Amino acid sequence: MDNVGEVQMARVATREALRFMTDCLKAVGAASRAAQQQAELLIEADRVGHPSHGLNRLELYVNDIISGACMPNNEPKVLKETASTAWIDANNVLGATVSHFAMDIAVKKAKESGVGWVSVKGSNHNGMAGYWARKASEKGLIGMAFTNTSPLLAPTRSKKAALGTNPLSVVAPASAGETFYLDMATTAVAVGKIEMQMRKEEKLPNGWAQDPDGKETNDAHLAFKTGCLMPLGGGEQTSGYKGYGLAAMVELFCGILSGSNYGHHIRSWSHSGDGGPANLGHCFVALDPECFAPGFGDRLTDCIHHWRELEPADPSSPVLAPGDKEKKHAELTDAKGTVSYVKQQIESSAALAKRLKVTPMKVEPEI
Ligand SMILES: NC(=O)c1ccc[n+]([C@@H]2O[C@H](COP(=O)([O-])OP(=O)(O)OC[C@H]3O[C@@H](n4cnc5c(N)ncnc54)[C@H](O)[C@@H]3O)[C@@H](O)[C@H]2O)c1
Repeated sequence: MDNVGEVQMARVATREALRFMTDCLKAVGAASRAAQQQAELLIEADRVGHPSHGLNRLELYVNDIISGACMPNNEPKVLKETASTAWIDANNVLGATVSHFAMDIAVKKAKESGVGWVSVKGSNHNGMAGYWARKASEKGLIGMAFTNTSPLLAPTRSKKAALGTNPLSVVAPASAGETFYLDMATTAVAVGKIEMQMRKEEKLPNGWAQDPDGKETNDAHLAFKTGCLMPLGGGEQTSGYKGYGLAAMVELFCGILSGSNYGHHIRSWSHSGDGGPANLGHCFVALDPECFAPGFGDRLTDCIHHWRELEPADPSSPVLAPGDKEKKHAELTDAKGTVSYVKQQIESSAALAKRLKVTPMKVEPEI
């Protein structure tokens, strides 16, 4: 085990972590391709430095398959379509299966008609929103992806949660190998970050979460139990109502447009897998910049370079472009060939391996 700050970390070969996650999903009945695609989504989150959406999420999917809340081997189907839109029933498959299906349709429509807007109902958790937007960007398009989630966001002035952490993402191809990559929860942080603080036994920064009385708390365990996150921006004085508005916008594109469960009607978030089908809604958009002014990629690169070259307020913290943190983290992961997990995750993975009779994840020796 290595130490990062006070936290004990263990390294696992990236391929081995992918193998383990795939095996766990296959062990509970997911077909090879579905298991592989879901595991690839998870390992990408660990690779780019969003561990909250990597291995950390595996047990949730496993439990949903075991309980029958998710049916990994169903087929998603198109319910309605036009030249530029499609409405899809995920038919309760894993989030990655339907997200590939839906974004492929959005990309095809954007290539043919300039824009593809796809709305999905009947789905399950689909991880990092940016993973899906990037899929369109890799084809030269501007990609956008949104999803609703279980209620966890307390609208400004509310004691209770009524919207999800509802992430939004926009990924766009720039010139000279640059990419604009914005992928963000509309709460101050994703709930997985509270879990990670709990796993690390660390306090929460201000502005992340509320206690049962609707007051801000720094206690990760209490915050997790209460399940009431603050919107992006925090309290009303710091414009948290804008995060609330963005979460509502994502809900409009996802649950309200697709006819899936929405907002306060979505099952509460838990690891137990006993809440019945999630019936989540997603939205995928692909847009062809070639339909507009020539030089999109060059202008975008000009902005990205300009932002990075701005004089930083603190010389030791250079200004970043959206996506720089993830890119840097991915480069480091790839150079090492390993992903790092906190000790508690290694222990719970070992317990999961035992439960599912899967070969446990092999931890690399300490260096
Ligand atoms: N599927 C779900 O239910 C769900 C729900 C919520 C969040 N998520 C995912 O959780 C992940 C984490 O979300 P988050 O909101 O905690 O991310 P975050 O706050 O770490 O980053 C948000 C965005 O800000 C950018 N960024 C970070 N620091 C920056 C800086 N100094 N300068 C410029 N840009 C900077 C990042 O590149 C990223 O695009 C995302 O992948 C999101 O899609 C998924």
